[in-house]
Amino acid sequence: MMTPPPPSTPVSPLLLLLLFVLVSSSSASLYDTFLQCLLNHTQVLQQQQQQWQQEPSQILHAPTNSSFPTLLGSLIRNRRFGTASTPKPLLILTPSQPSHVQSAVLCARRTGTEVRIRSGGHDFEGTSYVSRAPFLILDMFNFRLVSLVNEEFPELGLKKEDCAEMSWIESALWWGDFDSGVAVKALLDRMPKSVNFLKRKSDYVQQPMSREELELLWDKMIELGKVGFVFNPYGGKMGEIPMSDAPFPHRAGNLFKIQYSISWSEDGIEAEQSYLAKIRELYNFMTPYVSKKPRRAFLNYRDLDIGITDNGENSYKEGTVYGVKYFAENFKRLVKVKTAVDPQNFFKNEQSIPVLPRSSSAMTQYSGSTETTGKMTVLVIFFLFLKDLMTIFS
Ligand SMILES: *[C@@H]1O[C@H](CO)[C@@H](O)[C@H](O)[C@H]1NC(C)=O
Ligand SMILES: *[C@@H]1O[C@H](CO)[C@@H](O)[C@H](O)[C@H]1NC(C)=O
Repeated sequence: MMTPPPPSTPVSPLLLLLLFVLVSSSSASLYDTFLQCLLNHTQVLQQQQQQWQQEPSQILHAPTNSSFPTLLGSLIRNRRFGTASTPKPLLILTPSQPSHVQSAVLCARRTGTEVRIRSGGHDFEGTSYVSRAPFLILDMFNFRLVSLVNEEFPELGLKKEDCAEMSWIESALWWGDFDSGVAVKALLDRMPKSVNFLKRKSDYVQQPMSREELELLWDKMIELGKVGFVFNPYGGKMGEIPMSDAPFPHRAGNLFKIQYSISWSEDGIEAEQSYLAKIRELYNFMTPYVSKKPRRAFLNYRDLDIGITDNGENSYKEGTVYGVKYFAENFKRLVKVKTAVDPQNFFKNEQSIPVLPRSSSAMTQYSGSTETTGKMTVLVIFFLFLKDLMTIFS
């Protein structure tokens, strides 16, 4: 039912109607089962003196609910993953406290529904809101855990008129192209003003490029047209932090990071293929000038070109391909953590951390015990932490 029939096949309207009824009734019953599961779990939690501040029905959104299109719309930041043929979630959950997350994870597991955890605008490949399997989205927007930090900029040695001094959170408004003077709470409005089709890629540069090489690069960009670059300087404090201190590994030895970008507004597969070919050509052109063996990449500029897994038999082998590009030596440690807290690979996407292959890890059956729930919550928090960390350094 996931794959639409090929356009050449004549489909009777009756069959379509039947399909529609089947799909909507199956999602309605998933809603009911899910709600019942949340309610059951609520009772368990209440016995443990933990109160729900919201009714379970308030955090659960089915496709038939009026809240659903708005929530889904606020998630999509790349039009390539917001088309009619993009697979849609069966449910969206908007937890506002840890016990909601625990219950949601348990109930997803019980109903055999894959979980995607909503990420921010940097989720360039839609992995946090699209899956081929029947799935739901956990959207933690109502989790107001992160306190807004106001930090002053240190002296940069520039002339005063070169700088606009503002708090960190105000700089987020500036990057977001808000008009100056707009109140910080404008950041809470999640509906983007407009959404483009886009593709992003990344690289790390460890040797200086010569003037001649830069000239060649400008010529290439002019030839391709439309493609863009952002160079982010590294070094300083970042280079002093040991690689092993956090999952993010790109520390000492990196001069700068590159973001490759291309955005377009024309619909259709032809436009998409032509723009994707341009950015990939620029990426190939840069091969001699960037990190090697492996060519490194920045997780927060998610790029499925550098390797994916289908989370099947070969997930460890497949995961190692992109894993060492994103995490270098830290990849092995992440696999150990993953294997300890999520041995059945419940939390997964096209570029998730794999578990160790079956031969080297003893698989335990899921029991639904409080201990497992606790471990899963730790994993969710861990993923969120990782995401925040990447954002801080992006
Ligand atoms: C909820 O609890 C009832 C009673 O214990 C049980 O029969 C039912 O299967 C549970 N439903 C779900 C969806 O977990
Ligand atoms: C949301 O949709 C479900 C399933 O169709 C329905 O049972 C529920 O009453 C709806 N909730 C609201 C608030 O509309």
